[in-house]
Amino acid sequence: MKAIELRRKYIEFFKAHGHKEIPSAPVVPENDPTVLFTTAGMHPLVPYLLGEPHPQGKRLTDYQKCIRTGDIDSVGDSSHLTFFEMMGNWSLGDYFKKESIAMSYEFLEKELGFDMNKISVTVFAGEEGIPRDDEAAGYWMEAGIPKERIFYCEREHNWWGPAGETGPCGPDTEIFYDTGKEKCCDECSPACSCGKYLEIWNNVFMQYNKQKDGSYIPLEHPNVDTGLGLERVIGLLQGKKSVYETELFSDIIAKIKELSAAANDASCRIIADHIRTSIFMIVDGVRPSNVEQGYILRRLLRRAIRHMRKIGFNQDAMKELLGTYLNTLEEMYPETRANENSIIDVIEEEKNKFLKTLENGEKEFSKNVQRAKNEGKTKLDGQVVFRLYDTFGFPPEMTAELAEENEMEIDMNEFQELFKKHQELSRAGAEQKFKGGLADHSEKTTAYHTATHLLHKALQIVLGEHATQKGSNLTAERLRFDFNHPQKVTPEELKQVEDIVNEQIQRDLVVTCEEMSLEEAKASGATGLFENKYGDKVKVYTIGDFSKEICGGPHVERTGNMGHFKIKKEEASSAGVRRIKAILE
Ligand code: ALA
Repeated sequence: MKAIELRRKYIEFFKAHGHKEIPSAPVVPENDPTVLFTTAGMHPLVPYLLGEPHPQGKRLTDYQKCIRTGDIDSVGDSSHLTFFEMMGNWSLGDYFKKESIAMSYEFLEKELGFDMNKISVTVFAGEEGIPRDDEAAGYWMEAGIPKERIFYCEREHNWWGPAGETGPCGPDTEIFYDTGKEKCCDECSPACSCGKYLEIWNNVFMQYNKQKDGSYIPLEHPNVDTGLGLERVIGLLQGKKSVYETELFSDIIAKIKELSAAANDASCRIIADHIRTSIFMIVDGVRPSNVEQGYILRRLLRRAIRHMRKIGFNQDAMKELLGTYLNTLEEMYPETRANENSIIDVIEEEKNKFLKTLENGEKEFSKNVQRAKNEGKTKLDGQVVFRLYDTFGFPPEMTAELAEENEMEIDMNEFQELFKKHQELSRAGAEQKFKGGLADHSEKTTAYHTATHLLHKALQIVLGEHATQKGSNLTAERLRFDFNHPQKVTPEELKQVEDIVNEQIQRDLVVTCEEMSLEEAKASGATGLFENKYGDKVKVYTIGDFSKEICGGPHVERTGNMGHFKIKKEEASSAGVRRIKAILE
């Protein structure tokens, strides 16, 4: 089956079950300032999910172009994409869990011919005030899923939304396909990110409207909002190991390889994905810039161009590659062909702008890495990051990625301070607002710095002293922390770690900083990365009676206002090293 047939089958199935087909919306939301891009099919339906009557009735279905850049670091593997199509069906106060589950089961089994023995589902485990979803589990059993393949998971996995700060949300049930890979550990389940289970469909039972103050108001009529990922499902139906092997990408990947000297899979996928996403942004009117959607487009294009350079892609052949994209996309997305000229012009122009400085920027970067390494540093100064940004047009996220490839970190906080200063100095122009990517966020990043120390200590309390830091990476949106530990951290342990961190936040501990010699720091019991620091004065940050670490900072003054700490993901990073991604919300 081809992707376009899958899309048709989906819509026809739900039409046959009383749904009206509604048109897709653009990738830039028309009336929703809370998000930069449409991230799910429900976006354009928010007013109706909140109770306004929809002119087409109470049962709707569509397919929707979505952009999600939160997991951009994972693009390059076999399944992550920044642009994907979500097929959806909605009940606006009409049917609820029973029918929704029965229809999903029927569609997968009868229409798509899935081996239902390979399907597992998760349901909400419940929490204070919201019961465990035995109801959904019961309907799954009625449909034919045995209880061994029904997993109860916490909010982190089985709660969806809202898409922005506020709006409709609720517990969900997610449907997974077992790829047949070995279990990564005894506790391996669909909640695990090891790749054994691939999520294909999410049915959200929307019962609440989240308010700005964080409270949840029950919706008068509960709704159903579902999303089936087209690219993943088509990959599975075609028996492909990766979505990049399907007709959605195969010609594009082949073309990138043909036009490159030394292609590798990860770079090919990053290029294939990022240019595809950029095309859809351009179709909907986004242009590269330093703010908002335009900044995300610039970042994607520049990251793709850097990877092209890495694999020796012939940049003069960009137009030829874009021709392959248009041939691949036009059947499902005629709007791409209709915007052929602007797609080519915008990408060529951005490419030419960036290529002028890319090579010199890379040289500048290497020189600075060398210098830092000679000086025994593991971090590049914010000055360097700023110069690369200001003079060579390197998005700081790209410099961070380059740094990581060279086993260095970057001082994002110093960069942000410099960036702010630069903003103040430059024209008092309003155009300079870096939302969703950069500055304005330095307070957030500072809080993530402190959260990293709390997490480090909490891991050592829960898992043992061996759980020491291997690396970390912060943005204004999340922290990532790598640490030594031989096996998967269990959900119970993660919960304990979260609770400990939140307890320290609530205790509103004072954070102090002292400068001392490395010897004194060690003697004081401070932890931290000691390598290459011999002879230096170091800064030691102490968080109340809880943690003492050598670190460059900066940190919050007190822990009280950091927000609520939540672990989003725990996964393997390399042999004996685990990785946690966490947010402050
Ligand atoms: N809105 C739900 C999701 O994005 C269906 O997963």
